Amino acid sequence: MSVYDIILQRRTIRKFQQKPISRDTLHKLLNAARVAPSASNMQPLKYLVVDEPALVDAVFQTTSWANYLEGKGTPSSNEKPVVYIIVLADKDIREDGYAIDIGLALENLILTAWEEGIGCCIQGSIDRDKIKALFTIPDKYVITDAVAMGYRAEQPVLEDAQGDDIKYYKDENGVLHVPKRKLENITFWNKI
Ligand SMILES: Cc1cc2nc3c(=O)[nH]c(=O)nc-3n(C[C@H](O)[C@H](O)[C@H](O)COP(=O)(O)O)c2cc1C
Repeated sequence: MSVYDIILQRRTIRKFQQKPISRDTLHKLLNAARVAPSASNMQPLKYLVVDEPALVDAVFQTTSWANYLEGKGTPSSNEKPVVYIIVLADKDIREDGYAIDIGLALENLILTAWEEGIGCCIQGSIDRDKIKALFTIPDKYVITDAVAMGYRAEQPVLEDAQGDDIKYYKDENGVLHVPKRKLENITFWNKI
């Protein structure tokens, strides 16, 4: 599969098979994140990998899922993520200005994961204080995001947005549809 094919296929996944992800595979995903572009090549990002089931569940309790679906997007007990990666920014390396680094590293990670059959949900709606306490994370780290992961157990559908309606929704079969703004509505050629 080409990179472009994976980019088009990849969707945020919120239903996961209850099957472990090997450490070898996790190393591969982290390595993809490691080599991402980084402003001034400072590489302030670090990764707390959580693959012990009790701890994964503890992180899960601090997260919130698919706001537009009003509760219908939260994984049920047999669909929960099996790994969490907590993304940390090391303030000793860079105080701020690492938002683009995060995006690039996580896109590397989740596209590589997709190729392995693994789905991800980047989660910004997390209780950072609880996560900090759970792992006794030192003050020098900013908890930026969590990435929920597991082998995919759903196949969301990409579609063109109608006008400005970008809210994802589930159809009568429970399939998630994800509208993206049309290319003609986001592109300017030579003039605005
Ligand atoms: C920075 C960031 C934070 C996100 N936080 C959450 C979250 O807290 N919970 C959630 O269910 N999805 C979260 N998402 C996933 C988005 O809802 C998802 O990317 C969007 O609906 C588009 O779907 P797609 O990834 O399939 O293209 C987040 C995505 C990004 C990039």
